[in-house]
Amino acid sequence: MKVSVIGAGNVGATCAQIIAQKNIVNEVVLVDIKEGLSEGKSLDLWQTAPVNYYDTRITGSTNDYTKTEGSEVVVITSGVPRKPGMSRDDLISINAGIVKSVTENAVKYSPDAKIIIVSNPLDVMTYVAYKTSKKSKNVVMGMAGILDTARYRAFLAEALDISPRDIQALLMGGHGDTMVPLPRYTTVAGIPVTELIDEETLNAIVDRTKKGGGELVNLIGTSAWYAPGSAAAQMVEAIVMDQKRIFPCCIKLEGEFGLNDMFVGVPVKLGKNGVEKVIEVKLNKEEKQLLNDSANAVKKVMEVLDGMNIL
Ligand code: NAI
Ligand code: 2OP
Repeated sequence: MKVSVIGAGNVGATCAQIIAQKNIVNEVVLVDIKEGLSEGKSLDLWQTAPVNYYDTRITGSTNDYTKTEGSEVVVITSGVPRKPGMSRDDLISINAGIVKSVTENAVKYSPDAKIIIVSNPLDVMTYVAYKTSKKSKNVVMGMAGILDTARYRAFLAEALDISPRDIQALLMGGHGDTMVPLPRYTTVAGIPVTELIDEETLNAIVDRTKKGGGELVNLIGTSAWYAPGSAAAQMVEAIVMDQKRIFPCCIKLEGEFGLNDMFVGVPVKLGKNGVEKVIEVKLNKEEKQLLNDSANAVKKVMEVLDGMNIL
């Protein structure tokens, strides 16, 4: 089984490395437009196989999509990341064209692939890939919710001084500062988190989660890659291993949660067919309002994209 990762930058190379270390596919193909980058990174990664004990062959190519032919999953990480002071939405003019052309090439050689988008602005780039690929909505999905939930869980683990493994949480909405962490659907080994943490600390963690990407951009000078690459690899694993895992992923909504023709993160079941089910959890009035506000923020950027007339 083959998985292709387009964009051999920080997120793409990390994603390829983690997929390989999971030892769940025969081959990972890295593709980048920059001459020699994916060949070099894939060679370096392949040389970790004898040390880290995996068999997955990692290869790279400069823009040669024939090498991606027959991929089960294609992960799209190509595009520019943000710099301090920029929002994810500021990337649209460059990344929309990149995601469009990459999707066209990927689908040409892997018409049956499930497509995972990582490039920002995430929800709108998922819309670009969906429209460009002309594939069904269950096989085109964006990665953000696993990352944002991981940040939320990591902050909670730190505050509670417990293992992050025991924290289960749900976060919905767009991948921006309007994202909606849901304390009511957050538990620690089955115990509602609200029984273990005071309201003020919890609210501060929710707020830090929403700005979690920006916090890292300010520290590093570019956006994060270890957690994003890991999160995308977890989606790949759920699909290729048919794990039927429940994750928040960005997909096209057709009436679920009262949202239509909208791309935002919602809980879904991920398996060999891609998105196999949308889990329509009950939201109270306040949560619904937050989700609507987040969807409206994404909608504004979708309208900017529509105005670009590139699809
Ligand atoms: P990076 O700059 O390290 O890597 C991007 C790579 O894309 C570069 O190597 C570049 O040469 C390549 N590229 C550009 N145009 C291409 C094309 N037409 N075909 C193939 N490759 C092309 O950036 P990084 O940090 O890896 O981030 C990648 C994207 O992922 C950014 O848009 C960033 O904002 C986004 N991101 C999204 C996250 C999420 O949660 N959805 C989290 C982190 C980053
Ligand atoms: C992140 O959240 C910038 O989307 C990127 O780290």
